[in-house]
Amino acid sequence: MIINFARFCGLSTKNKIYHGINNLYLVERFIKQTRPFATQNTSKQQHLNHRYVLIERPVNRSVQLTDFSLTTSPISELNSNEVLLKTLWLSLDPYMRGRMSAGKSYVQPVGIGEVMVGQGVAEVVKSNDPNIVPGQIVLADVGWQEYACLSSKDIIPIDNTNTSFPLSYYLGCLGMPGMTAYFALQEIGRPEKGETVLVSAASGAVGQIVGQIAKLKGCTVIGIAGGNEKCTYITKTLGFDSAIDYKNKSVKQLTNEIRHLAPNGINIYFDNVGGIIHDSAMLNLAIQGRVIICGVISTFDQLESVDNGPRWMRILLIKRALMQGFLVTDYEHRRNEFLNEMKSWLENGQLKYREDIAEGLQATPQAFIGMLQGKNHGKQLVRIAEQTVRS
Ligand SMILES: NC(=O)c1ccc[n+]([C@@H]2O[C@H](COP(=O)([O-])OP(=O)(O)OC[C@H]3O[C@@H](n4cnc5c(N)ncnc54)[C@H](OP(=O)(O)O)[C@@H]3O)[C@@H](O)[C@H]2O)c1
Repeated sequence: MIINFARFCGLSTKNKIYHGINNLYLVERFIKQTRPFATQNTSKQQHLNHRYVLIERPVNRSVQLTDFSLTTSPISELNSNEVLLKTLWLSLDPYMRGRMSAGKSYVQPVGIGEVMVGQGVAEVVKSNDPNIVPGQIVLADVGWQEYACLSSKDIIPIDNTNTSFPLSYYLGCLGMPGMTAYFALQEIGRPEKGETVLVSAASGAVGQIVGQIAKLKGCTVIGIAGGNEKCTYITKTLGFDSAIDYKNKSVKQLTNEIRHLAPNGINIYFDNVGGIIHDSAMLNLAIQGRVIICGVISTFDQLESVDNGPRWMRILLIKRALMQGFLVTDYEHRRNEFLNEMKSWLENGQLKYREDIAEGLQATPQAFIGMLQGKNHGKQLVRIAEQTVRS
């Protein structure tokens, strides 16, 4: 049944709360709230699944609320070796914008009428696999929905037994964005003490970790972010050396500001955005600089048009620089190595992490669009449901 989802939208308050865990590190969370669903069909006592499907592809335009539709259906029966998952936390990530386009990429696009993709932290509520028990908390590609039936081989159990990290962390600093920062910076960037690292989208899910790891490695770190609040956050709270607010600035202005802060050039540019910020960073590259191509969020809405940007081959040549693309999926086999070090940095208070939380599945499309526009303050998440309390 397709429901006009506008009836269900209705973002209300945006509160900022601080949440301490073991007094060791600080979780800063922005909470956005919406009204909850009725999750049971009371006449038949049958559980319903609410989910967002893609109904329109944004072609050379921004994503709109009307690109998604809310549908309701009964929860499907499980086949053998399948598990039924209740989504607790849903991650909203820039790559989802790419999956809305029909264009060829490293993965298939979301089909029209299909559930929007997304990784979540979920609770097993039913299992047809003897090795997976109800109550287990897992990481899985649940999509934008309350319940998902998946093969048990497609879930990653979360081991939080000897630690008390918020489960949402497994979608952020202890999940895909954290892994991206950790491996891309260290494997491609290879930061050395005394070098200068520039990172764009610096207050976001990936960027905030990149800058802090670079500081742990003894580098000077410059962050580029949109607006004064984000710039203050990365310098005052996260300890970056300096910040540049890129909003409403030309390539020339940005180039000059980077040059002023890094007169000897940028050794590592961690590129989360592409576009004119990339251009300005390239004009400041040091000899033997390394450029990590992690994301191109500034160009997402023009991916279908011909790119007429400047060509950087000459700069790569004269600076003997390295530019390399990165995909986090190539490092899945090293997840435990990443988790061990990241958990110890968090526990020792060497790393902080900020989250931006929207409340309820209905808040998902708006929160996603907001994240693409830079309205998120830290890792964008949606809290879908509470974990079942077990005696
Ligand atoms: N290659 C991989 O394996 C991999 C894995 C994870 C993420 N990524 C990429 O890494 C980048 C950051 O991802 P994230 O999850 O950490 O997201 P995020 O930074 O938490 O959120 C996206 C941020 O992008 C910035 N932004 C939006 N439009 C922009 C524009 N036109 N110019 C400059 N900045 C813009 C906004 O911050 P401001 O307010 O500062 O503008 C926004 O908050 C994305 O490009 C993503 O696709 C790649």
